[in-house]
Formats: sequence, C-alpha cells, structure tokens
Amino acid sequence: MVEIKEMQPQHVNEVFSISAAAFPLPWAKDELIRETINPNALNLVALYEEKVIGYVQCWYTLDSADIINVAVSDAFKRQGVGHRLIRDLILHLKERNVENVFLEVRVSNLPAQRLYKSMGFITLSKRERYYVNGEDALVMNLQI
Ligand SMILES: CC(C)(COP(=O)(O)OP(=O)(O)OC[C@H]1O[C@@H](n2cnc3c(N)ncnc32)[C@H](O)[C@@H]1OP(=O)(O)O)[C@@H](O)C(=O)NCCC(=O)NCCS
Repeated sequence: MVEIKEMQPQHVNEVFSISAAAFPLPWAKDELIRETINPNALNLVALYEEKVIGYVQCWYTLDSADIINVAVSDAFKRQGVGHRLIRDLILHLKERNVENVFLEVRVSNLPAQRLYKSMGFITLSKRERYYVNGEDALVMNLQI
C-alpha cells in the first residue's frame, strides 16, 4: 500500500536518488534538508514498504502555490503515484487557504502535461527559453 507523508530529513537520500534520475539539475541533499523546515514549503513523499518511490515539492505564500518538482521512481511510474501526490498536495494546500496552484513544465514533457491536464490544470502561457538548454516552459494553473 502506498502512503503519502510529509518529507522528513530521513527521506532525503532516497528523494535525491529519484531527483537525480529524473532531472538534469537535481537539488543537492542539503537544499532538500533545508526544505523540510522551510515554513513556505510543502513537500510530500510517497512511500511503499517505507521506501520513498516519489515526491512532490511546492512553495506557497498567502493564496498561491507553485509546484517546484514532482517525480516518481521508474519502477513505480504509471501506477497513479504522481496523481496521488498532487491530489494530496492540493488537499493540504486547500487547508492552508491556497486558491491557485501554478507550475512550469517543459514543452517536450508530454507525460507530465497529461498528468496535470487530467487533474484539471490549464495552460496559461509559454515562457520562452525558460530552461538552461533553451527549451520553452508552459505555465499551467489550477484553481482549487
Ligand atoms: C510525470 C510523472 C511524475 C508522472 O508520474 P506517474 O506516477 O507515472 O503518473 P500517474 O501514474 O499518476 O499518471 C497519471 C496520468 O498522467 C498521464 N501520464 C503519466 N505518465 C504518462 C506517460 N508516460 N505517457 C502518457 N501519459 C502519462 C496519464 O494520463 C496518467 O493516467 P493513466 O495512467 O490512467 O493514463 C513521472 O512520469 C516522472 O517522474 N517523470 C520524470 C520527472 C518529471 O518530468 N516531472 C515533472 C516535471 S514538470
């Protein structure tokens, strides 16, 4: 059974491994540890048999939040873990009076775009050359 919990320092090594496999510029472990005590951050991990299989990071202020990263380890992809992480994140954000969730996604990242669209996110705009390799980002938004 997959459980969703708030990220704690003991999860950081496994979160880092998933992040390093998923992104060209993963966050350093000490940055991830700092996020666990950032009052404006909400970070969730998905656990299977106490092992981290996915995570989502977000920052929020007042009524608005930004999803910074979401990733699932390869062996657990396409099993609803990403969907659950974002669904639970949204429930937590609603409790904190957040009304709008934003994110950026690479124009080439169709799996992530499909996930976000399936959860009701809409595309607001495009940020040209947003990523270091020159790729554009789509800015997506969900009113919650
Ligand atoms: C994007 C990511 C987090 C999705 O996680 P996941 O747990 O595999 O996604 P889910 O199983 O919850 O998928 C939910 C829906 O998203 C869509 N989706 C997810 N992966 C997909 C894929 N490879 N191809 C097409 N659609 C996909 C589907 O609509 C899917 O529903 P379905 O399986 O019923 O068709 C995962 O692919 C990942 O870690 N990617 C690398 C990191 C990344 O790109 N993160 C996003 C940065 S903006």
